Amino acid sequence: MAPSVTVKLGGATLLAASAFAASPSSYGYGHNSTTASPTPTITSDASYSSTTFNASAASTYLPLTDFSNEQLAFLWDQVGSISTAAIHTTVSPTPEPSVYPKPGYLHPLVPAYVSEVESAKLPEDFLWGVASAALQVEGAVDAEGKGPSVWDFIPHRWVNSIADNSTADVAANQYYLYKQDNARLKALGIPAYSFTISLARVIPFGKGPVNEQGIAHYDDVFANMEANGIKSVVTLFHWDTPLALFNSYGAWTSRDIVADYVRYAKLIIERYDKYVTVWYTFNEPQYCNWRFSNYPYGTLLPSYNGIGNGGLKAEFLCGHYTLLAHAEVYQWYKNVYKGTKPMSFKNSANWILPNSTSAADAEAVTRVNDFNMGWFGGPWTDGDYPASLRSTLGDLLPTFTQAEKDMIKGSADFYALDGYTANVAAAPPNGIAACAANASDPNYPTCALTATTYADGFPIGPNSDPGATWLWSTPGGIRPYLSFIANKYFPKVASKGIVVSEFGFSDPYESSFDTLAQILWDLRRADYMQGYLDNILAARALDGVNITGIFAWAIYDNFEWNSGLSTKFGLQYVNLTSQERHPKASMFQFLNWFKLHGLDSTATANITAPIGHKRM
Ligand code: BGC
Repeated sequence: MAPSVTVKLGGATLLAASAFAASPSSYGYGHNSTTASPTPTITSDASYSSTTFNASAASTYLPLTDFSNEQLAFLWDQVGSISTAAIHTTVSPTPEPSVYPKPGYLHPLVPAYVSEVESAKLPEDFLWGVASAALQVEGAVDAEGKGPSVWDFIPHRWVNSIADNSTADVAANQYYLYKQDNARLKALGIPAYSFTISLARVIPFGKGPVNEQGIAHYDDVFANMEANGIKSVVTLFHWDTPLALFNSYGAWTSRDIVADYVRYAKLIIERYDKYVTVWYTFNEPQYCNWRFSNYPYGTLLPSYNGIGNGGLKAEFLCGHYTLLAHAEVYQWYKNVYKGTKPMSFKNSANWILPNSTSAADAEAVTRVNDFNMGWFGGPWTDGDYPASLRSTLGDLLPTFTQAEKDMIKGSADFYALDGYTANVAAAPPNGIAACAANASDPNYPTCALTATTYADGFPIGPNSDPGATWLWSTPGGIRPYLSFIANKYFPKVASKGIVVSEFGFSDPYESSFDTLAQILWDLRRADYMQGYLDNILAARALDGVNITGIFAWAIYDNFEWNSGLSTKFGLQYVNLTSQERHPKASMFQFLNWFKLHGLDSTATANITAPIGHKRM
């Protein structure tokens, strides 16, 4: 969309223009400049004035007060031209097939991994389903008043930042196809769907007026899910920060974000709490490390709040304000709103093995855990960051007041783990202490080396797609990891329950297949599903870990961030031309597992038993 744009002189509009076109020094242009008192030298210009401009003296705050259509259009011009899907109105669902094409006996599903749990059953209130995120599936990114998020901006403006140069403009087009998607979930017998709300769809600028069409859309999504009997598990934020908040104050590097996020969260909770089974305030705040801190600050995005080009300063400011925003919403929900649904946030974390039996490698494991899970896990202990972070990071790590610690402490009803894989950790050759004392050390601040091979060089499991080099199939890791969280790392919160809120796999080179037939029998993902599910169940049934829910990533193929549309995580294949969805073998592996281990009330529909190893 490119409606005509009025570029106002000075103020926000002019500044926004510089945010994508000019060099970093242009940000904040016009603010804090020295006002001279000139003698008019152009006598024909009665309003003549002059000043000495100094962009490097710019403040780190660009007032965001203009919420006009023109300003919205201007933001979209900052992103660039958006692709529109062939289907761009909400589609009424067509009837689902009574039985889906599925694996036959010539290659049965993957057999059980853990024979001791073959007859174990899950309780009736066990929560399970599939997951997605707004940015990754919705498409329709500029439709019906939505504002751009930073993840609409990045694929368009950050050259070569997305492996296949795709965008999330259309993705799986869930914005228009949700009724069909919900009908599919119902027909497959999937009882719950974990999805996220797009902040910029609801509040296009991140602050200011609410977008009526965005709210109307989610009203309908919730109503439709309820009509289909699907439980809503809702994440309020999954990385798609409104671009306007980056332009204005640097998004999660500024304390201003807390109030803006809390306002949004309250709005969504008040409106939809009656529909929601579980609330997550945030998806994986650990993204402040490996994603948020790596945005193009100082080139394509403003470098505010002293973060330079990003890195550690951005990372720990982002984590800090995320924790405060989470805790404020949690305390409001429980104590003011008197909400009764469980609330937590999802953690990105993996089982870490030591590379050897040395004490140094054991310490390396602890440091990896502290800098990842511990960074956000403090809330359940003393409300503060782990001592290892404080002693290593010094002033790089912001501090909480006592009141903030009290607010953060205990601010979750259960532990949510997005646990996809495992890693091997070793102390660096120069030793942990030397590294931790030197901020220029290449391994600072974690000061541990991580690998996806054992000490002998053999990989920890089968590899995934080249677009997900971090991901190796390691089902044997999830069981001890769940015990570790429950018994050692976070016993207080884990005793209330652990939900495996995401796990999933990307089969190698899946996007290179030409035919549906080649795609549908996704053996590695099916194997991963069975291995993880059996081991999670073993943690529950044999090790006594209080696992209360399981969600597989993903409902279908979607936009995998910097890996684009070519790295596939779906339990269903999405034909990006027709937008048809086809359940893969892994979906049947997943459903069959719940058919075996769920009670009758959660048994899956539409897959005629027996399939898989029971069929042999
Ligand atoms: C994220 C998803 C992502 C998935 C696979 C999870 O950590 O929440 O957004 O697609 O990993 O990379």
